[in-house]
Amino acid sequence: MRVDDRKLIAELASLGIDLRSGTSLAELTSLGIGGTTDLLRITRHDSIPALIEFLERHRIPYKFLGGGSNLLVGDGELPWVILQLAKPDPEIVIEGTLAHVDAAADLGRTVTYCAKHDLGGMEGLIGVPGTVGGALRMNAGAYGMQIGSYVREVKLYRAAQRRIEILRGTQISFEYRHTSFAPDDMMLAVTLELPSKPYKEILQGIRICNEKRRSSQPLGQKSAGCIFKNPPGASAGRMIDELGLKGLSVGDAKVSDRHANFFVNAGQASARDMLSLIADVRGRVEKAFGVKLENEVVVWNA
Ligand code: EPU
Repeated sequence: MRVDDRKLIAELASLGIDLRSGTSLAELTSLGIGGTTDLLRITRHDSIPALIEFLERHRIPYKFLGGGSNLLVGDGELPWVILQLAKPDPEIVIEGTLAHVDAAADLGRTVTYCAKHDLGGMEGLIGVPGTVGGALRMNAGAYGMQIGSYVREVKLYRAAQRRIEILRGTQISFEYRHTSFAPDDMMLAVTLELPSKPYKEILQGIRICNEKRRSSQPLGQKSAGCIFKNPPGASAGRMIDELGLKGLSVGDAKVSDRHANFFVNAGQASARDMLSLIADVRGRVEKAFGVKLENEVVVWNA
């Protein structure tokens, strides 16, 4: 989808939008898969209601991108523009045990920045790629912790109300890889309330989690993390592994040899390849175990 009318481009510029025409989503996603469209980078939160009004008035479909680390985007020319927050400076402000973090901030950087200020709790999230906004939206978690536990307040654009609102943590429900945010809500900023811990102790926890992750996940390869959610009481990775599916591939889309719930782009995989691999594995698991695995990865397919 292209915004190529000069008047529209000027209107976008007046809203503080940095328009990057013909951007490849393969370059903005950790899977390295995805077609091309216009990217609208938002430099001012307060321009979002006017931006959405503009897009709707001109019937320009849009999607909101975080860090692109849990996302599988379709191939070819995409039928929507992409909105993404530009990173402000500073991204994180510490106030006692509170961390005020912009949604565009990198999650790993946030964990280490807070650690340096003797604020812990998020050690398990080290090594989870993506932005704080993305982590919040899906309640990212690992090694027994989840980000939702530390949320004091969230600033978001609520598409249904067409305005920016602030929600208290207690008004949001955070479940396993699921939250009560509406699909079209946009995370803008979050205040986390974190336990005080000496930096050295947090660092030790970070090292342990890093080591566990390095030994069990294909970190150097292009992936979207786990493809499927774990069904209650079971591990999707273990089930796929038990069926001997590590290494199974469609084109360059491949079930990781290291962790069977990670599907990697081993070269030039297309969305079509990856979707076909996902469907194949889901079908085999259902046949063998009677369990229909649900996607954890978010799919934007035209
Ligand atoms: N296992 C296998 N073979 C495999 C993979 C795993 O036998 O190929 C076994 C492991 O040996 C272990 C069990 O399955 O006994 C569970 O594996 P693991 O500890 O790797 O955890 P997981 O359930 O596969 C979850 C999250 C990960 C998170 C880890 C660590 C989901 C879908 N996955 O994986 O999150 O990093 O725990 O806490 O909840 C993600 O969300 O994208 C993600 C990678």
